[in-house]
Amino acid sequence: MVNQKGGVGKTTTTINLGAALAELGRRVLLVDFDPQGALSVGLGINPLELDLTVYNAIMQSDCAVEDVVLKTDVDGLDLVPANIDLSAAEVQLVGEVAREQVLARSLAPVTPDYDVVLIDCQPSLGLLTVNALTAAHGVIVPLECEFFALRGVALLVDTIRKVQDRLNPDLEVDGILATMYDGRTLHSREVLARVVEAFGDQVFHTVISRTVRFPETTVAGEPITTYASSSAGAAAYRQLALEVLSR
Ligand SMILES: Nc1ncnc2c1ncn2[C@@H]1O[C@H](COP(=O)(O)OP(=O)(O)O)[C@@H](O)[C@H]1O
Ligand SMILES: [Mg+2]
Repeated sequence: MVNQKGGVGKTTTTINLGAALAELGRRVLLVDFDPQGALSVGLGINPLELDLTVYNAIMQSDCAVEDVVLKTDVDGLDLVPANIDLSAAEVQLVGEVAREQVLARSLAPVTPDYDVVLIDCQPSLGLLTVNALTAAHGVIVPLECEFFALRGVALLVDTIRKVQDRLNPDLEVDGILATMYDGRTLHSREVLARVVEAFGDQVFHTVISRTVRFPETTVAGEPITTYASSSAGAAAYRQLALEVLSR
């Protein structure tokens, strides 16, 4: 889940797409790769209380990712948590050999245990995000249906191309996800139309509407699929899960 803009729905999408895939019986691993730890918080975990996080898994040769994986309250949904420790990795990695491949190498031992691994990136195109792009088969780009949504996307596309060229030829754009959509406003409809014009088939048919239920789920520390199972927001992420599986 990548977009160097913050507040576009990366973390919300990681949690709720992951939970919806788990409901469909998939074994899902979520990787918090943002030092803010919002993904961990959104699943009811206080990241500041953790001794071991993704930071230890990628930076310490004596720490395996298996030691860091946590079960969540959702069946079939596991989490590699993060906290502020991860902010040091960006600097510490600079001097490493194959510094872009550190996350891929760390995750490799557990990926056979899962059908889907979703990595929630921080809002930057720095070395941590490049590590996530190097480890991934696909990228999902959440775009907020707001005026500046497309600003910066060219740079993001350029970064994805460079990673494809130099580090990960298997990387594909799985799709662009329109988020925070408000169908009552002409503005939201216009932005969505421009996004479809720019990216065509790459845009998921599923559109995530703006609703206060999502911030509520963060406070509750659980996905919308369990917190408000019959809400429109839960239905949207279930539909997205089906769309992702069919691509
Ligand atoms: N569809 C939505 N409608 C309303 N609020 C949302 C929606 N998706 C996310 N939010 C809220 O917006 C804020 C930013 O979302 P988040 O998923 O954390 O973005 P990012 O990870 O890209 O920074 C959070 O408070 C979240 O609860
Ligand atoms: Mg986030």
